This record gives sequence, structure tokens and C-alpha cells, in this order.
Amino acid sequence: MTSHTLNELIAEGVRGRYILVRSDLNVPLDGSTVTDDGRIRASLPVLGKLTDAGARVLVTAHLGRPKGAPEDKYSLKPAVARLAELASFPVSLAEDTVGPSAKEQAASLQDGQVLVLENVRFDARETSKDEAERGAFADELVGLTGSNGAFVNDAFGAVHRKHASVYDVATRLPSYLGDLVGTEVEVLRKLTADTQRPYVVVLGGSKVSDKLAVIDNLLGKADTILVGGGMLFTFLAAAGHKVAGSLLEEDQIPVVQDYLKRAADAGTDFVIPTDVVV
Ligand code: 3PG
Repeated sequence: MTSHTLNELIAEGVRGRYILVRSDLNVPLDGSTVTDDGRIRASLPVLGKLTDAGARVLVTAHLGRPKGAPEDKYSLKPAVARLAELASFPVSLAEDTVGPSAKEQAASLQDGQVLVLENVRFDARETSKDEAERGAFADELVGLTGSNGAFVNDAFGAVHRKHASVYDVATRLPSYLGDLVGTEVEVLRKLTADTQRPYVVVLGGSKVSDKLAVIDNLLGKADTILVGGGMLFTFLAAAGHKVAGSLLEEDQIPVVQDYLKRAADAGTDFVIPTDVVV
């Protein structure tokens, strides 16, 4: 886990150094239009701090879940175009992730400029379960940073992934916590260790399987958990309702049934919407 902060890195001095930043630019698209640029805006402060301090910033990010090869619909082009519109520093996009375009553009990057590498998931090694494969990809990413690079993890939405650009690069470069991740971790600390009542949690998203640890941690702590988003169908199914073709994680039904039972024992109320479109 990264424990040094971005401010410590800036204090060390970053002018002229290549700083690899993992951002979360996984934004929703309608064709090539970004329909919610929240994550892009959230990534700006760290990139701004680094460019202001004269760093040469290489950004890694993913978009969607391509199958380990380039696919136009998962290109970071629309996200990076929006980033460039919002940014007060120059931003460009490499045509590949660690290939000739990335290498060439990284080599000519100037102090205070940002180069985003194409979707890291265009390379199958990014998400490989094989440590050596991920490591080889991480080595190539780190190779772009020269001899005095550093890594900043600012991708809060992806920080739980054991992927090359998130996990393995952090074992190879001096690593620092981005402000976005730092702020979220502080909020989470308050919500789990320093709670005030009444304590109501609104939980959404499509994947119950990604929230298991979160729900586990909240049982007995939160007074009420309001369940929304796509995962509510797995809750409905666990409570014995039919959900037809709605998004369902069937293998999680027993897990959710166990939560509902344990929640009742621990004094946490799960509230599931009564009006839904199935
Ligand atoms: C997200 O959108 O939840 C994050 O960007 C992580 O994406 P992932 O679930 O595809 O790893």
C-alpha cells in the first residue's frame, strides 16, 4: 500500500522527472461523447499539481473491459479530448500503451506536459493473473519513466485491482498516494472507524460481488443500508422475487441471503426499492 503522499513527492522535486500517474478515466460514453466527465474533472488536481511543479506526466488509465487487444470503442480518445478541454496544461494521447508511439511521445515530452497512454487493458498482461506477465508489462511502463521516475496512484475507482498499472508498477517505482485516493481513504476511515448516528449508507452500482467486503464491514455499524443501482436485483432475487431479464448475479444470491440474515441479527436495516422496472 502506498503511504507517501503527493505533497511529499512535490517537496522532493519533480521538475524534469517522469511521473507515472494511474488515473481513473473510465467514463461513460455515448459513442464518442463523454456523458459524465466527473472522473476526468476529479483527476485534474493531481495532474495540475505535478505539471505546475514541472513534472513530465505519463498517465495510465483504462476504459471499459476490452479483451486484451485494441478496440476502437474502448479508446481513451474521447476521455482525453475532454481532459484536454478542461486542463490548463498541454495534454496528448499516445496511439498505443507501451509501443512505438508511447515511446516516441514520452521521449519528446517537455516539463509541465501530460501524455496519456492508450487504454492499459489493450494489453492482456495488464489484467493477467500471472505475476510474471503482469510484471513484464509493468517493467515496460516503468521503462518509459527513465532513471528517476516515480509513481502516483490517483485512480480511486481502480485501486482495488491487482493489475500491472495499479499494483505491479508500485513495487518497481517509489510510490505516492494521489490526493483523490487520499481524500477518499480519509472519508472511508471516518465512515468505518469514527461513525456518528444515525448512520445511513446509500449503496449502488451493478456488481454486488465488488461490494462484498464493503457490505461486510457495514453490518452492525450502519443503522440502515439503502440498496440501489443494478445490484438491487440480486437483493430482490435473494428475497424470493422474480427479476426476469434484469441484471442479476445469480451466484451471489446465497451471499446476499446470508447478509440479510446477519443484518437483522446485527441491527442493520437493508432497504430495497419498492418501485422498480424489471
Ligand atoms: C469502475 O468503473 O468501477 C472502475 O473504473 C474500475 O473498473 P473495472 O470494474 O472495470 O475494473
